[in-house]
Amino acid sequence: MKGILLAGGKGTRLFPITHGVSKQLLPIYDKPMVYYPLSVLMLAEIRNILIISTPEDLSLYKRLLGDGTQWGISLQYAIQKKPQGLAQGFILGKEFLGSSSVCMILGDNVFYGPNLETHLFEAKQNATSNNCATVFGVRVNNPSQYGVVNFDQNNQAISIVEKPPTPSSNMAVAGLYFYPNSVVDIASRIPFSDRGELEITSVNQTYLIQKQLKVVRLGKGFAWLDTGSPESLLEASQFISTIEKRQGLKVACLEEIAYEKGWITKTQVLMRGNAMGLTPYGRYLTQRFS
Ligand code: G1P
Repeated sequence: MKGILLAGGKGTRLFPITHGVSKQLLPIYDKPMVYYPLSVLMLAEIRNILIISTPEDLSLYKRLLGDGTQWGISLQYAIQKKPQGLAQGFILGKEFLGSSSVCMILGDNVFYGPNLETHLFEAKQNATSNNCATVFGVRVNNPSQYGVVNFDQNNQAISIVEKPPTPSSNMAVAGLYFYPNSVVDIASRIPFSDRGELEITSVNQTYLIQKQLKVVRLGKGFAWLDTGSPESLLEASQFISTIEKRQGLKVACLEEIAYEKGWITKTQVLMRGNAMGLTPYGRYLTQRFS
């Protein structure tokens, strides 16, 4: 399985902050936002990843993340010229994907909660062995800002609607999607929506109609954080800061994940830590791994 990480868009809800900087490079407490979704792909043991961003911002991602060897992964880059929807990522990534299944994650989505890795491996398996897609549903109090899943009386998902003005459930679809390779073909066939985008929701709706979509609920206690507005950005930082301080462990520490997966050595972790000096992140690496 390969990964696609989307780091495009204009970040309109964060103007004027995002007039000068790409949203997914903004800090969530002690590290750039994009580290969080990248850590999710790494936890799922997806090591071939395509980062997609705008023509203006792509070089900044290259500068920050490089080719990935520092974490024992391989990063490639592609440009999305215009914000024409999440599903366009599969078309832009067609060659990169080849015949692989794919996990797509949005660069502004933060996931933290129990059994995350189990969920990831099950979804991966579902795509590679069962030819089925997986999306994750999370209860939110503002569902009309998201893709929303509707259920029948037996709690079976019956439809997914993008940003419905009057949602019929509180179950939002999170920005983490697993698909078999057929997604490339499906994404090439869906029409542009009224807002001029190739909607990921149309892709999910296609899999749902084909009875090839699993909707996994991330239950109570699972944090799926929005980072798109000033308030939610601040709250996400506070949340990560609270957890990290309490546990003495970092969330989304890419070197730590890479080391635990056996992709890099302790010496490599320490080199990274030393290069970062006395920042909390740098000190965490040098103290935890020496
Ligand atoms: C996108 C998707 C939406 C999904 C959300 C998750 O919305 O279109 O279905 O629920 O991501 O973050 P957007 O970020 O484009 O508003």
